[in-house]
Parts: sequence; structure tokens; C-alpha cells
Amino acid sequence: MPQPLDLPQGFRWGVSTAAYQIEGAVDEDGRGPSIWDTFAARPGAVRDGHTGAVACDHYHRYPEDVALMKGLGLDGYRFSIAWPRIQPTGAGPANPAGLAFYDRLVDALLTAGITPLPTLFHWDLPQALEDADGWLNRNTAYRFAEYTALVADRLGDRVPAWITLNEPFVHMVYGYALGIHGPGRALMLDALPAAHHQLLGHGLAAAVLRERGLDVMIANNLTPVRPASSSEADQVAATAYDALHNRLFTDPILLGHYPDLSAFGVGPDLGGSVRDGDLKRIAATPLDGLGVNYYNPTRIAAPTDPALPFTEAPIEGVPRTAFDWPVVPDGLRELLTGLRDRYGAALPPITITENGCSVADEPAADGTVQDQPRIDYLAGHLDALAAAVAEGVDVRGYFTWSLLDNFEWAEGYHQRFGLVHVDFETQRRTPKASYAWYRDLITAHRAVREG
Ligand code: FCB
Repeated sequence: MPQPLDLPQGFRWGVSTAAYQIEGAVDEDGRGPSIWDTFAARPGAVRDGHTGAVACDHYHRYPEDVALMKGLGLDGYRFSIAWPRIQPTGAGPANPAGLAFYDRLVDALLTAGITPLPTLFHWDLPQALEDADGWLNRNTAYRFAEYTALVADRLGDRVPAWITLNEPFVHMVYGYALGIHGPGRALMLDALPAAHHQLLGHGLAAAVLRERGLDVMIANNLTPVRPASSSEADQVAATAYDALHNRLFTDPILLGHYPDLSAFGVGPDLGGSVRDGDLKRIAATPLDGLGVNYYNPTRIAAPTDPALPFTEAPIEGVPRTAFDWPVVPDGLRELLTGLRDRYGAALPPITITENGCSVADEPAADGTVQDQPRIDYLAGHLDALAAAVAEGVDVRGYFTWSLLDNFEWAEGYHQRFGLVHVDFETQRRTPKASYAWYRDLITAHRAVREG
């Protein structure tokens, strides 16, 4: 039996998913195409040509999935809303069938005693907006605010807190700088306007939510950056990387200004995209909570290629996930205490909105799925979280990635992150050993909470 950790009263337990990774039903009920439909169809873009066309068929099987969540005893469920279901062309009135799906999902969650925590944008931009340059176009920020109003007007009576964007850093770098995620643009530093326009979209959407009395969060992918050595060159490189990965998407919201990106040859106008008043709009609505997605730390050395002011160095001597990501639980404590030290009173309460690991899980002959490496990963990271709390960091909840094995972007169905195994041929769901472990952990905390 997992032992309860020393966590604040009211600490919330959850799981996270994202629309394109689980829903399938890409042509149903008037959904328009997204950049991920287009990108996945591009030969060679996704491993083995996998796509999200069916994924976990959650669009039809959501009652079964909500029952699995209820079995865990969750407080909250973080999912994302597919913009192309609400506005098939990224503009204009809402598609009633699209809204109706999330309406049903929200009601099913509430009936199960689970608080919905929707993310408005988890990377599946309507293709029509990409045809007009996607997040490189300032107009997309305004479209995002309009879409937010449509969804908030429908669900805001039952959904108290909202996440605007998921990991704008990863979306900018993988989607616009390197071209390994949708929309598949490889612009390197010319991708930076996609950072500014996502942040502007956050600010405009945050105002829409706040006007309706709703709480606002963002889910940022954050990583503690460790210099590869104590040499000055490695430290300078680490500072540059930290500005790009961590500060670029957090400083403007919490502090009202961009970090120093001069190491990249970029000025405070981010390649000419920042207009008067933009930074005010980005910071105008204070966050009610900062969502932190944490997977691993990053080790950075002096550049070897003149195009960038850093190189990523491998982290040696630690276990690795099936995805080959280093497992460093204490990195979470380091990250959380570092955020507190950096932002002080400007830091809102934190919720871990993603944390988890990929394991090469397959059912054994007896049908069970024994994923001890995942249990070890989660237990280690929760110990690190509790250590950060003991050091005074205000952490209010933990949402693990993910409920189900799902479509892992460029890796297709090859990386399994779920507490529940999905057989993608039959759609059969099998709770793994980690599912029972997480359920027992939540039960142990509930017993403490209810005294
Ligand atoms: C995060 C994404 C999420 C999932 C995990 C493994 O970067 O937000 O959709 O793919 O990684």
C-alpha cells in the first residue's frame, strides 16, 4: 500500500489527456481538419505513418473512460477541447455538435464527482488558420479569444477553472522551429512570432475567462537547466537556454516583460512581432494557478554550432524511460523551489498538470500489465513534490500524464504513457499495475483528508 505524503489540505489528484491524442472521430459531427490531421498525413512525419484518426476512440467511449477515472477516485480531469470541433474553420459561430460532445463529457465527469479542467489549446489548430500562417499570424490570437468565449459561454456554468495553452514552448519549437510536430514548419529562430502570438492569445483568452468569473491557468513545459560544467561558457549557454525554454513563456505573464534573448540575437520585440500594449494584455489577468508539466531536467553546454548559443548535453548515469528520457525525480523539487526563488510573490499556486513516463508495456500471459518502472517514476516524483512543499512551495495538485496509452505525436502509438493499457486493434482497456497503485495512493490521502 502506498503511504500518504505530507501534502497540503485539499491537494487535488488528477490525470491529463489531450483531444487529438485520444478522441479519434476526426470526421464526425462537423469537426474541421486540424494541423495534426494534415501533418500526420505527410509521408515520414509520424513514425510508421500513424495518425490520430481513431486513437483511443474516446469520442465514442468516453463513458467507459470516465468510469475508469471514477475507479481511480480522482478529484480532477485535465482534458483538452478540440478547437476544430467547435469552429471547423477557426472562425464564426460554434458548431452545436462539437459543443454538445464536451457538454456530455463535462456532465459525465460531474456525475462521477470529478472536476473538469479543460485546456483550450493542446496543439490541434484548425487547418484553416494554419493556411493563414497559424500562430505566426497575429490574427490567430484574436480568433483564439473568440473561440474561448464560445466554449466558456457553454461550459462555464459547470467548469470553474480553465487552462488556456498547453506548452507553448514545445508547440513553437517542435511545430514552427524544427518542423517535427504539426504544422511542420522549420523556421528556426524565425519561429519566435509564434511565441508572442500564443502569449497574446493567452492574454486575450484570459480576459474572456475572467469576465465570466472563471479561473485562469496556463500549462507550461518547464525544466531545471543544469550547466554541463562549472566553466563560464557552459554557464552562459545554460542561462541562454533557460531564457528560451522557461522564461520566455512565464516572465511575460508573471512579470510583464520578455527575458533577455540577446544571446539569440533577438531583441525585446521578438522579431518585430510585439506591438504597443501587448505585454500589458499578456499580463493583465493574473493567473489563478501555474500549470507545470515536468518530465526531466536539461543539461546544457557551450555551443558547437554557431546558429544557436547552446548545445544539449546528455544526462548520464540515471535510469531512462522507453522514450529514452532521463529519470531524475529530484529535478522536480529543483524546478519547483527554483520557480519560487525566481518569481517570489509573483508566483501563483502551482499545479503539476503533467508528469509521467513511457514504458514498453504489454499484457502478460495472465492479462495483467506490470508497469513497475512507471510506479517507481511516479512515486519518486511525488516524493520530490512533497520535498518542495516541505521547502515552502505552494503546490495544490498533481495530474499525471496520462490516463490512457495514446497517440504520442511524432512517435505515433509507440510510446505508452497510460495508467490504462489500450489495445489499439480492439480498443480494449486494461488497467495496469500503476492504475491500482495510483488509486490506492489517492485512497490513502482521502483517508487522511477525511480524518
Ligand atoms: C507533453 C505533451 C503531452 C504528451 C507528453 C508526453 O509534452 O503536452 O501531449 O505528449 O508530453
